[in-house]
Amino acid sequence: MIKVEGLRKSFRGQQVLRGVDLEVPTGSITVIIGRSGGGKSVFLKHLIGLLRPDSGRLEVAGVDLSRLSGRALDEVRKRYGVVFQGGALFDSMTCRENVAFPLREKLRLPAPEIDKRVDMALERVGLAGIGAKYPEEVSGGMRKRVAMARALVTEPEIVFFDEPTTGLDPVLVNAIHRLIRELHRASRFTAVIVSHEIPEIFEIADRVGMLHEGRIVEIGPPEVIQNSKNPIVQQFIRGEPDPQA
Ligand SMILES: Nc1ncnc2c1ncn2[C@@H]1O[C@H](COP(=O)(O)OP(=O)(O)O)[C@@H](O)[C@H]1O
Ligand SMILES: [Mg+2]
Repeated sequence: MIKVEGLRKSFRGQQVLRGVDLEVPTGSITVIIGRSGGGKSVFLKHLIGLLRPDSGRLEVAGVDLSRLSGRALDEVRKRYGVVFQGGALFDSMTCRENVAFPLREKLRLPAPEIDKRVDMALERVGLAGIGAKYPEEVSGGMRKRVAMARALVTEPEIVFFDEPTTGLDPVLVNAIHRLIRELHRASRFTAVIVSHEIPEIFEIADRVGMLHEGRIVEIGPPEVIQNSKNPIVQQFIRGEPDPQA
């Protein structure tokens, strides 16, 4: 579903991505791990079409993203759902209006259809009945669920999650992971999740890739990554500080 080759990106001389290669099979859950500031969000933003590579290939759902712009890019992005780091809900809208937003703006559905789909989406994330509240009136865990409902309400083929559990206590982290797995089981979307929840995230991953110094240094099934011989991977998953930092 996703094929990235030699993706490079610098900001004002700082090389953030130095040749990222990644293939994401259709219907899989691929998790990207790596140190803070290592370029995980920058990488996701390329997949979403929010940033353009300096060089390299970027193919999503059979389309070469690096060549698209304007309306053609918008068309491709309709097939995505995104849960941004921190949730990125609109504070001035109720939870319900937040979830309705992509249906109104991206799909331009009629109001009764929107109502029906929003009810379903809120119910799927266990939030039936809280729709009238504003994001600041609900708990942090609920806000993450609202962000997931908003990402999934368009029934996207691909869903990107950027650190979906940041700031949650361990019990809620596991609840969100379980929810992602349930939603994935029901809808079979292709998922790319950036996460620092190690080892918990390994339980829902089909594959784990480590981004380090601008490249995917190792990728494989979670049990393979957990037993990696690569010292960089080992140090990271054991929670040891970066020897080079
Ligand atoms: N739009 C931008 N302009 C300039 N530098 C950026 C921009 N976005 C990210 N960076 C830099 O790229 C590096 C990687 O950031 P990021 O992808 O957010 O890391 P991560 O998500 O892995 O913690 C950081 O040094 C950050 O400051
Ligand atoms: Mg980030």
